[in-house]
Amino acid sequence: MLTGKIIGLGSYQPPKILTNDDLSKIVETNDEWITERTGIKERRVSDGIIDTTSAMAYKAAAEAVKDAGVDPSEIEMIVVATTTPDLPFPSMACCVQRDLGISGCICFDVNSACPGFITAYNVVQNFIENGHVKTALVIGAECLTNFVDWEDRGTCILFGDGAGAAVLRAEEGDPNSFILTSSPEKMECLVAQSMKQPKKFDDPDFAKSTYINMNGKEVFRFVVSKVPQTMMELAEKCGVSLDEIDHYVFHQANKRIIDATAKKLGVSLEKFPMNIEQTGNTSSASIPILLTKMKKEGTLKKGDKVMMASFGGGLTWGVNYFVY
Ligand code: UT7
Repeated sequence: MLTGKIIGLGSYQPPKILTNDDLSKIVETNDEWITERTGIKERRVSDGIIDTTSAMAYKAAAEAVKDAGVDPSEIEMIVVATTTPDLPFPSMACCVQRDLGISGCICFDVNSACPGFITAYNVVQNFIENGHVKTALVIGAECLTNFVDWEDRGTCILFGDGAGAAVLRAEEGDPNSFILTSSPEKMECLVAQSMKQPKKFDDPDFAKSTYINMNGKEVFRFVVSKVPQTMMELAEKCGVSLDEIDHYVFHQANKRIIDATAKKLGVSLEKFPMNIEQTGNTSSASIPILLTKMKKEGTLKKGDKVMMASFGGGLTWGVNYFVY
C-alpha cells in the first residue's frame, strides 16, 4: 500500500542566542537551576520582524525541499503545525506556498500544541495513503517568545523559536502507525488566551492571561504517567519490541521528562537523541528540528526504526512509528 516516506528534512533557528546567564539578568534565576531542572542551556529568540513564524517555516521548508532533491513545483500539499502564527489567516501554509513560488497546493495549518508536527504528519499521511497527493511538505514552526511572560521565571526559561520541515513522498510500504489522543483533565494547566479580545481588556488580569500560563509540575506529572504508556501501546500495535527501535525522537520539553520516559520504557537513554540544551522547548518545531540534526550528523540512516512522541496543551499527546 501507499505510505509517505520522509525524503527530505530541513530546519531553521534564528541567530540570536539567549543563554541562562542572560535570563538571570531578567528574572530571579540562575544557570544551575535551569540546567538541573530542565537540561536547557540556551535557546534561540526571533527578532519578531524578519524571522516571523511564516518566514522561519519557509526557510526550513526550502532546506527540506533542497535536501529531498525535488522541484518545488512537485509539492502538492503543505501543512504547517503552529500555535503561534504571525497571521490568523491566511494560513502559514499559504505563506510558505507563496514564498516557494508555487501554487495549487492544499494548504492549511494545524494546532494541537506541541504534538502539532506529529498531528500534521499523520494528516498528510492520510492524504498520501488515499492516493490524493504524492509529494507533501509537513512543517512545525513557532515564535513562542512572542507569547512568553518575561516576568514569569517558571515559563520564560523554557521556550525558544524555530522551525523544522519534512518532505513526504508516496512510496509502496507498510501503513503509517500512530496514536493521537487528548484529555481535558489538565486542560487549565497550559493555556494562552487570544490577544484579540478587546472586550476582555476591562479585566485587569487579562493581559497576563495572553501569555503562556502553565502549571509545569502538573504537566510534568501527567506526561510521565501517560506518554510512556502510549508509546508501549503503539509498539505492541506495530509488533515491534521497544529494544528493536533505534531512535526515540521525543519532544524536547524537559530533559527530566525524557530521562523518566526512558526509565519507564526500560530503554537506554542513548536511544533518545537530544538538542534541548541548545534549543529549549520549540513546541511543534521540536521534533523536525531534531530529525534534521540527526540526519545532518549521520545518526539517522535509511531503514532505522523511529518512534516520535510529543505532548502539550490540551493536554494532547501523540506517538508515531515508522521505518526511515
Ligand atoms: O511543551 C510544553 C509542555 N510543558 C512542559 O513540558 C513543562 C513540564 N514541566 C517542567 O518542565 C517543570 O515543571 C518546570 C521546569 C517548569 C519547573 O520545574 P519543577 O521542578 O516542577 O519546579 P517547581 O515549579 O516545582 O518549582 C520549584 C521551586 C519553586 O520554589 P519553592 O516554592 O520551592 O521555594 C519555584 O518558585 O523552584 C522555583 N523556581 C525557580 N527557581 C529558579 C521556579 N522557576 C525557577 C527558575 N529559577 N527559573
